[in-house]
Amino acid sequence: MKIKIAIAGVGNCASSLIQGIHYYRLPHPVPQGLMHPRIGRWSPGDIEVVCAFDVDVRKVGKPINEAIFAAPNCAQIFHSELPDDSVPVKMGPTLDGVAPHLVEFPEDQRIVLSEQKPASVAEELKRSGAEVLVCYLPVGAEQAVRYYAEACLEAGVAFLNCVPVFIASDPDWAEKFRRAGLPLVGDDIKSQLGATILHRALAGLFSDRGVEVSRTYQLNTGGNTDFLNMLARDRLHSKKRSKTEAVQSQLKAPLPAEQIHIGPSDYVPWQKDNKVAFIRVEGAGFGGVPLELECRLSVQDSPNSGGVVIDAVRCLKLALENGDAGPLEATSAYYMKSPPKQIPDHEARRINVEFIESHSPQEAHPIAAKS
Ligand SMILES: NC(=O)c1ccc[n+]([C@@H]2O[C@H](COP(=O)([O-])OP(=O)(O)OC[C@H]3O[C@@H](n4cnc5c(N)ncnc54)[C@H](O)[C@@H]3O)[C@@H](O)[C@H]2O)c1
Repeated sequence: MKIKIAIAGVGNCASSLIQGIHYYRLPHPVPQGLMHPRIGRWSPGDIEVVCAFDVDVRKVGKPINEAIFAAPNCAQIFHSELPDDSVPVKMGPTLDGVAPHLVEFPEDQRIVLSEQKPASVAEELKRSGAEVLVCYLPVGAEQAVRYYAEACLEAGVAFLNCVPVFIASDPDWAEKFRRAGLPLVGDDIKSQLGATILHRALAGLFSDRGVEVSRTYQLNTGGNTDFLNMLARDRLHSKKRSKTEAVQSQLKAPLPAEQIHIGPSDYVPWQKDNKVAFIRVEGAGFGGVPLELECRLSVQDSPNSGGVVIDAVRCLKLALENGDAGPLEATSAYYMKSPPKQIPDHEARRINVEFIESHSPQEAHPIAAKS
């Protein structure tokens, strides 16, 4: 038995996720790099991609296990031995998925639009038997993300929204999924160990130790297509809101807008999928005496999100098995930057483990509890 997923957007994150699924199918004495080796009965290798959509001419029509290695994808290849019987990537509706400024950049760095006629996403989802759609579209693709969310409602598929377009955290969309009897998790994936979780932990630490944060920034650079896309400031509103709220929510009192600056900062092509975050936090401790903290985090961006999606998919499968509908509150709070309800990470982790245990079949409990 497998968990059947569909993917919208066969970019770097999809590449890392698919490599990871096959990597963890191999026997590892102690599986490393995972938050939960098992969730219920499910291991990461139990996930299977049954349907996929993209709009790039180098990906559409190709088997997905080949398409993930096509330009402009540049995610690190940590597992290249993939089966050659994977599903072909279908043409999706482009809508606002491709930013106009991309044409100014070389083709090997950007999306090159296919001229194929788009498939009906809802029809393809139904035909494939997909249970969960993982949405990996570019930042700013507001209409496209909503189109795929609608298609899930029509096809009866759960929705995992890795993009900062507000669906799970929007009460109207949440209600639509609830009424359709479908679970969803969102919005905007929080990486396994990325700038957001680190910045949240630092903000929480300052607050817990009675140090009042007076100002902070988080500057991020990278050289993948996500960073290239985010050079367009008009596509960034929801990304900046999502990343800023994720940190503001951890402070005793939110900072005035001019004292907090968080966002994607620049595109440095040679960095490829290496993202570098510079975080600075200033505050005042005992007697109002000032202190400052600076740190630099360097990560491979896309595997960092794969380590989280691999959990969120399995939580959605548990929700489907148990007939849950609407946003999964604990799972979204732990794994997403903009969940319906912000909860401190240690508490979100605890209630998500409770969710996993209460939704797992009896014989799977000890395994879930170990994680
Ligand atoms: N750690 C992380 O990498 C991380 C963390 C948080 C959020 N995210 C978000 O996840 C999303 C995916 O990231 P990525 O690095 O894989 O991006 P990417 O640019 O590598 O991939 C996006 C893919 O979507 C395709 N696409 C564009 N419009 C489409 C449409 N209408 N239908 C189908 N496909 C379409 C593109 O051709 C491309 O292959 C981004 O929104 C990113 O901000 C990533």
